[in-house]
Amino acid sequence: MKKLLIAYHSMTGGTEQMARAAARGAAEEAAVEVRLLRAAETGPHDVLDADGYVFATPENLASMAGLMKDFFDRCYYAALDRINGRPYAALICAGSDGQNALRQLERIATGWRLNAVAPALIVCTHAQTPEQILSPKQIAAVDLERCYEIGAALATGVALGVF
Ligand SMILES: Cc1cc2nc3c(=O)[nH]c(=O)nc-3n(C[C@H](O)[C@H](O)[C@H](O)COP(=O)(O)O)c2cc1C
Repeated sequence: MKKLLIAYHSMTGGTEQMARAAARGAAEEAAVEVRLLRAAETGPHDVLDADGYVFATPENLASMAGLMKDFFDRCYYAALDRINGRPYAALICAGSDGQNALRQLERIATGWRLNAVAPALIVCTHAQTPEQILSPKQIAAVDLERCYEIGAALATGVALGVF
């Protein structure tokens, strides 16, 4: 059975909702096993074992979240040249920007020779004050639907072997 790994980090819940929506979409494809894992609990074996990936991270301090970076740091060389050409999609949850986190993620994915099979999705929560930024997030249904569709498309392509 083909496997789709969804690795994510989330502090105030926004990215987690996006990752879970992608997982629900991917689960529509019965021929693919979906593994939804927090980045801190994801290791090289999980990366090598998967046929495709969704990477989901907040942007914090103009960077991908530290624990997402830690995941890539721990897995990068163990997986280098062993996952070439596999498909992936990127989901970013940001306050108002998200571009730097996406750029970093895409550079790593390029190093891994992964194949971006869906346009990256940046969802902004528009939190401005420290209180808003630290509060639990609620991602709009329309954005969760886009995450769902990305997960579904990725899983379908993995199942059919079209990527
Ligand atoms: C320490 C910190 C730094 C942040 N820096 C940025 C930033 O540089 N750019 C941005 O667009 N959002 C920034 N944010 C906002 C988060 O990206 C936003 O709150 C998002 O919802 C976090 O995702 P999460 O809910 O999955 O934790 C920052 C939030 C925190 C806590």
